[in-house]
Order: sequence, then C-alpha cells, then structure tokens
Amino acid sequence: MEAGNAKRNKELQIRHVYKSFRVDAENLEVLRDVNLEIGEGEFVSIVGFSGCGKSTLLRLIMGLDPVTEGQISIGENEVKKPSREVGMVFQEARLFPWSSIAKNVEFGISDKSLSKQEKKEMTRKYLELVKLNGFEDAFPAQLSGGMQQRAGIARALIGNPDILLLDEPFGALDAFTRINMQNEILDIWRKENKTMLLITHDIDEAIFLSDRIVIMSERPGTIQEVIRVESARPRDRGSEEFLKIRKHILKCFLGSSDIDLEYYI
Ligand SMILES: Nc1ncnc2c1ncn2[C@@H]1O[C@H](COP(=O)(O)OP(=O)(O)OP(=O)(O)O)[C@@H](O)[C@H]1O
Ligand SMILES: [Mg+2]
Repeated sequence: MEAGNAKRNKELQIRHVYKSFRVDAENLEVLRDVNLEIGEGEFVSIVGFSGCGKSTLLRLIMGLDPVTEGQISIGENEVKKPSREVGMVFQEARLFPWSSIAKNVEFGISDKSLSKQEKKEMTRKYLELVKLNGFEDAFPAQLSGGMQQRAGIARALIGNPDILLLDEPFGALDAFTRINMQNEILDIWRKENKTMLLITHDIDEAIFLSDRIVIMSERPGTIQEVIRVESARPRDRGSEEFLKIRKHILKCFLGSSDIDLEYYI
C-alpha cells in the first residue's frame, strides 16, 4: 500500500563519472570525475568550452552511451539505457519533415496504449503549452526555427519525462526569438514542474534561467565551479546581481587572458 502511494525519488545523481572514447587506437579522455546532484524540479545549466564534454554528459544521462567509470542514477535506479524518465531537446528540432507538426509531437507519447482520441487530446494540450495551436497540420518546413524548436520541446514534454535535457536548444535562433524562448521555457518549467538540465553557450541565458550554473573545465571536462543564482524570477538582466554573476563567469573563462572584463558588462 505504502509503496504504491510513495512518491518516487527522482533526484539525478552523477557520481565519479569518467568517459573516454577509443579514437584511432588512442584513448580520448572526455570526462573526468564528474560529480553532480540535481534535485527534483531544479533548473541547472552547464556552460563550458566547445568540446569539453557537455553533450557527452547528456548522452550518458540519457542512457545512450555507457559511462567508462562511475555511476549515474535517477532516484534508486541506475541509468543503463534510455527510458521514459529522461527526455531530450536537441540544438536542431530534429522533426520528421514528412509529418505534420501534430504527428511529430504525437510521436513523443510514451504510453502507446492510449486511444487515438486520447493521443489527439494530449497532442492538442502540448501544442497549446508551446503556443503552436493552429499549426497542427503544418509541416516543419512551413514553420520558423523558433516554432520548430517549440515543437521539439512539445515532443519531448509529451513523453512526460521527469528530467528534461536541453542541449543548446536555442543556439540557432536570433537574439529576440531566443529571449522569447527563454521566457517560454521558464513558463513551461513552472507549469510542468520538471527537472531541467540545460547546456548553453549563452551566459545571460544561464543566469536568467537557472537555480545553479555548472562551469566545466576544458577537456577532459571536470566541474570547475557551481554557482547558485539566488534572485527571484523573472530576473532583471541589468540588475547588480546579474552583472556580478556574469562578470564572475567570464572571469572563469577569460581570467588568465588580458581581455578587459569591464568591456563585457
Ligand atoms: N562517439 C564519439 N567518439 C569519439 N569521440 C567523441 C564521441 N563523442 C564525442 N567525442 C569527443 O568528445 C569530445 C567532447 O565532445 P562533446 O560533443 O561532448 O563536446 P561539447 O562540450 O558538447 O562541445 P560543443 O559545445 O561544441 O557542443 C570531443 O573531443 C569529441 O570529439
Ligand atoms: Mg555539444
């Protein structure tokens, strides 16, 4: 009785994770002793140099690749293969060009036992959530990049994952659409109460969205620092705290160079 009603623990735990690849008979060490715990409903961003292993880490969390050493678990369960509990949004929306937006989103439903009508109703709900109602019958090529990304987010959310991984999802968008998408993802995060783990190259985006920001070192990627952002949302991008964190993160990346940081804020 208890067990059935007990709330499942969905904390994401990454413990002493190492990942290497064999490349041309050489060992390429990509991740070294990565440790991170992400609580249920937390919004965490990862920033780091290109090639430091961020996408690799997401693939491990997703269960697409095995860890070389260490352990990744969600609650009590070790991640060994992809599961319904973890969803992913990629840099490009990766929609099927030959299917309508509604069909693309419906594809993400994990409960295949639902009736046709139930699936349709669920698809409608998620299209509404990402503000794509009215575009059910359109094809991906008929949508803008931002709209396609929103369809990709709806497809990931409709599978009802506990944890949503977002790998540079807004990288290809213009600055204004990107800011709109940031507001929308925050809205979705509030409504859907998911754990979100976002990779971004945009420092402002990380500060605007996250409870914590993880700074990774260059390859082999290790966690260099974790910064907690305390201020209430929606955040003012020009506030003193915002600029202070921004400057701190820039210093982590550019610290040893002679670039004048004052220029960047
Ligand atoms: N399947 C693979 N086989 C061999 N090497 C790989 C594989 N996947 C990733 N790598 C290597 O691991 C390193 C990290 O790659 P990864 O894609 O995780 O970087 P990243 O931090 O996401 O970079 P970016 O910010 O440019 O997306 C790179 O040197 C890459 O070449
Ligand atoms: Mg990447």
